[in-house]
Amino acid sequence: MRARLVTRDANAPCYDARKMSSDDASVPTEHLLSVAVDAAKDAGSVLLEYARSGFQIERKNPINLVTDADHAAEQCIIDHLRRCFPTHRTLAEERGVDGHGPSPYRWIIDPLDGTTNFAHRFPVYAVSIGVECGNDLLVGVVYDPSRDELFTGEAGRGAFLNGRLVTVSTTAQLDAALMVTGFAYDIRETPKNNLDHFARFALRAQGVRRTGSAALDLCYVAAGRFDGFWEVKLNPWDMAAGVLIVREAGGRITDLRGNPHSIHQPELVASNGFIHDEMLGILGENLHL
Ligand code: IPD
Ligand code: CA
Ligand code: CA
Repeated sequence: MRARLVTRDANAPCYDARKMSSDDASVPTEHLLSVAVDAAKDAGSVLLEYARSGFQIERKNPINLVTDADHAAEQCIIDHLRRCFPTHRTLAEERGVDGHGPSPYRWIIDPLDGTTNFAHRFPVYAVSIGVECGNDLLVGVVYDPSRDELFTGEAGRGAFLNGRLVTVSTTAQLDAALMVTGFAYDIRETPKNNLDHFARFALRAQGVRRTGSAALDLCYVAAGRFDGFWEVKLNPWDMAAGVLIVREAGGRITDLRGNPHSIHQPELVASNGFIHDEMLGILGENLHL
C-alpha cells in the first residue's frame, strides 16, 4: 500500500488561497499532507545546507542549544504555510504562537528536533510538522534529511515510511523489547528528571537507547524499530506529528498513568500496545516524584 501523497506543482496556487474562507474546516487532509511534506523536505534541505556550510550556536540555558539552522528551517516552513494556508494558526518551537484568527487549523512545528545532535554533527535529527483541527490531529510528517526518510501519517489512513505502510512491532514482552527515552533540558535542576525510570527500564528491557530526537523515537516505534518510548517532559512540537504516526501504525499512546494522552501535556508513553501495561507498571513504581 502506498501513501496517497499529492504532489503539488511548485508554480500552482495553493489550495486554500483560492477556495477557502478563513474559518473553513474542510481542507482535504491530502492537501494538508502535501503541503506539510513539501515544507518538511525543504526545511530538511535547509538543515543539510547549514550542516555542510556551518552554523552559529546560541544557548537557551547551559545545555539547551539553538542554532541559526533551527531558525532558518522554521522560517522555511512558515513561508510554505503562509503562502498555502494564510489563515491557519501555527505553534512553532522558536517563534511560539502565531495567528489568532478563527481558523480551526493549527500547525505544530519543530523545525529541528535533535538540535544537540545537529550541533555536534551527530546525524540524528528531523523536521516535525503536525496539523491539528480543533483537538484532532489530522496529519503528521517527520523528515530525517540525513537518511532521506520521510514518515507520514494521515488520520484514519495509516502510517508510511517513504510511501510504504509501516506498523508497530509484535514484541510481546519487555525483556525482549528495545526501548527508547529522552531527558528534558532541566535534567540538572529537578528530581523529576527521568533517571530513575531509565535505570529501572535498563534492568528490565532488552535494551534502552537515547537518540536525542523524540520525533524520530516516535516514528521508530511506528516502524517497529523500537518497541516502546517514554518521556516525562515533552513539548507539543516534539510529539504532535509522531503521536499521529504511532497511532496510525497501530500503536498505543497514554500518559504515565495510562490515561488518555494529549500533546498539550508533557508526559508520553508510546508502544506497540503489547508491552504497554508492563511499561506502565515500571513507570508506576516511581510516580511519587
Ligand atoms: C528535544 C529532543 C530530545 C528530547 C527532548 C527534546 P530539541 O528536542 O526531542 O530527544 O529528549 O526532551 O526537547 O530541543 O532537540 O528540539
Ligand atoms: Ca524538539
Ligand atoms: Ca527543536
